[in-house]
Amino acid sequence: MTSKTIDTSPSEVREPDDVTVAPDGRPMAAQPEWRREFPIDWPADEYVSRRAMLKFMTLTSAAFVGGHAWLAATAGGPEGAPLPRLAIGRVDELAPGGARIFQYPEGSPPRLLIRIDETRFVAYDQACTHLSCPVIPEPRAGKLHCPCHNGWFDLASGAPLAGPPRRPLPRVTLEIEGGVIYATGIVTVAAVS
Ligand code: FES
Repeated sequence: MTSKTIDTSPSEVREPDDVTVAPDGRPMAAQPEWRREFPIDWPADEYVSRRAMLKFMTLTSAAFVGGHAWLAATAGGPEGAPLPRLAIGRVDELAPGGARIFQYPEGSPPRLLIRIDETRFVAYDQACTHLSCPVIPEPRAGKLHCPCHNGWFDLASGAPLAGPPRRPLPRVTLEIEGGVIYATGIVTVAAVS
């Protein structure tokens, strides 16, 4: 008794009819176009054609770019629509060195409001500009720390200081009026060289 061995290595050149049997048993040339475009290798279904992989990667990349375009559009800032002025807290709610999470605009990813000292407040995206881990304010050191890959940002400016991050944290612009802190917009800065 003889047995047929099929090498599933993508580098091997094989006749489609030799390895692919459609459900109706007809040869590939007689199959509809969609099946010829995406042949199913029944004897070795773990084989993935380069063409299918390329399409998958193209679609994935398009989704990635589209997602970022959506984020940029909804985050506002220099390229986006103007954001509203929104009360995000009161001055007397935070002691110097304190911090709290807020959303701006409503429903946004978390952002950080930090009181540096008696008179200075800053606010940033909480997501690290490297791979989006939440950053942790360390006011005494004058920095924000990302524990994922030991990234550091300057507390007063949001600029990257050390570790993998290359872009400053997006900064929420603030105004203080009558003891109330208002968010007025978001400034996103390109990568520093
Ligand atoms: S995610 Fe922040 S340093 Fe990598």
